[in-house]
Amino acid sequence: MSVSNPLVLGIESSCDETGVGIVRGTEMLVNAVASSMEEHVRFGGVIPEIASRAHLNEFVPTLEAALTAAGVTLDEIDAIAVTSGPGLSGALMVGVAAAKALALASGKPLYAINHLVAHVGVGVLDGGKLPENLGALLVSGGHTEILQVNSLSEDVRLLGATIDDAAGEAYDKVARLLGLGYPGGPAIDRVAKEGDPKAIRFPRGLTLPKFVGTAEEPGKHRHDFSFSGLKTAVARCVEQYQKRGEEVPVADIAASFQEAVVDVITSKAVRACQEHGLTNLLLGGGVAANSRLRELLAARCASAGITLRVPPISLCTDNGAMVAALGAQLVAVGVKPTGLKFSTDSGQPVSLISLVA
Ligand code: KG4
Ligand code: ZN
Repeated sequence: MSVSNPLVLGIESSCDETGVGIVRGTEMLVNAVASSMEEHVRFGGVIPEIASRAHLNEFVPTLEAALTAAGVTLDEIDAIAVTSGPGLSGALMVGVAAAKALALASGKPLYAINHLVAHVGVGVLDGGKLPENLGALLVSGGHTEILQVNSLSEDVRLLGATIDDAAGEAYDKVARLLGLGYPGGPAIDRVAKEGDPKAIRFPRGLTLPKFVGTAEEPGKHRHDFSFSGLKTAVARCVEQYQKRGEEVPVADIAASFQEAVVDVITSKAVRACQEHGLTNLLLGGGVAANSRLRELLAARCASAGITLRVPPISLCTDNGAMVAALGAQLVAVGVKPTGLKFSTDSGQPVSLISLVA
């Protein structure tokens, strides 16, 4: 099937957002999202079982709200797209089961698509066709990746990823250590404004020569990230103050932690772009809301001659419109639908943009 401006319904349930979006080609008609974030607050992080149950409760109301707001019926939809991975297994299964049921009942083609590539695909809803020589930097509670996007429908490569915690996860854990609550990102972002980012020099993970190598001989973790050492360093620092009976300088620690995270992310993203000839960079994921990340990334991209594209934050966080947007791109170039015979893949690699039946 190849339709130039397909009407596509997108379903997202890989983490704690139940998303249903509807797009027509590159035009977004609706982006309905129900988040279970509130239910995870007292645990300080996303609890997979709670997220799965919330998807189960929220899916039908979110779907109905999306169809009503867009003024379309299931009958008019050209195709259905659903996130099949990567993500939390149980959470993915709810969206996939719902999508299969809808596809079976309506006879519409179904695409099982990659969550990470959907974060890139959302770019078409904000400015149309994606530029050539495109890289993507994805930073959220679940991922920290640098991608090379040669073709949104055919060729996406992973240049670097975290080897332990995701950036947002590090924010959440450090916020907990500092007594700032969950989600930690916005709290640290706020408190850091009152602190000195140079107060404490926290470690910059995987930036030593033995990890990054040289331009001639690249190290194994050149474009990868690690935040667990940083988290431990913050914990030790807090302990030192407590042991001495001194007040913990929360704002200075928050600012210094944030500087370490943002310094590493931005310098690695820019280096990856330069080494791979990428002159455009698209930012995605919930951490894209971070004020210091936006500021430093914009500055470093500008001095490296890289054009930075940051979609509105509602499109950066997990949502159904991004899944629909990528689905519509696949339909438009005639990629075959996946059909009903596929399973969720919590570790789906970026090279699998959509699953083949
Ligand atoms: O993309 P997202 O909404 O969903 C998941 O990863 O599930 O990202 C959520 C993450 C959380 O870890 C949150 O702490 C982080 O994004 N975050 C931020 C900011 N706003 C949200 N991190 C740093 N600064 C922010 N302003
Ligand atoms: Zn995501």
